[in-house]
Amino acid sequence: MDIDEFFRRLWQDYVAVTPQAQRIHELFTTSGERVVNDHVAFRTFDHPGIDIHALEPALLELGYRRLEPYTFTEKKLRAWSYRHPDADQPKIFFSELDTAALSSTAQRIISTLTRQLDLPHDAGPDHFWGGRPWPAPRWEDYATLRAESDYAAWVAALGLRANHFTVSVNHLRRTADMAAVVGLLKRHGFTLNRQGGEIKGSPAQRLEQAATVADRMPVTFADNEVHATPTCYYEFARRYPLPGGELYQGFVAANADKLFHSTDLAD
Ligand code: NI
Repeated sequence: MDIDEFFRRLWQDYVAVTPQAQRIHELFTTSGERVVNDHVAFRTFDHPGIDIHALEPALLELGYRRLEPYTFTEKKLRAWSYRHPDADQPKIFFSELDTAALSSTAQRIISTLTRQLDLPHDAGPDHFWGGRPWPAPRWEDYATLRAESDYAAWVAALGLRANHFTVSVNHLRRTADMAAVVGLLKRHGFTLNRQGGEIKGSPAQRLEQAATVADRMPVTFADNEVHATPTCYYEFARRYPLPGGELYQGFVAANADKLFHSTDLAD
């Protein structure tokens, strides 16, 4: 599979559960903008067969190379960023939950799901939009997980898919700064993640980010119980040059820490 096909299929799955992203994308394109992705993010559990180690080869096969590791102690997450040699391709931010750091109850719920994992060992790129690779969790178990870790509940219910796409604000011409993007979104009625302020980061940190609050859609849990559940959000990033002139390509952990809340604010 070539990389354009990879992102085309990933986007199709993403907007099917994140209709606001399609509407915002159209808001830009109908005003003549070309929307370029800064990065795409994935979430998973650190269990064999579904962890970063198991899924990463498909990304490396597409030409991605590891850039930097990140740790989020409070949220019990580890992550890697990846960069493609073709600078027009989005970076990838791939995180996994350190499940051993959760309560024994949460660990038991997650293990019940991952013991039923249905994913071949040579997981290819199409697993990145495959959705949930285990049977639907029970609603009570989802709620128990969510009380402890919004991230755990999200992965349990939604599985593998893009958690968010991110518009590169550097590539926009009419709304070329974050304040203009935030203003445009608010004028059109979109709800922003205000955790730590609408704009996270600063030019001094070389990266500013903002995000909507995740959409919600009905998810069918075990025993055919249907509940409106947070899905995915859309993010916006503006990068600033390093002293050498090249745009900073890393991530700022303090920003990401706040952006993770874009799914747990969706109530
Ligand atoms: Ni992001």
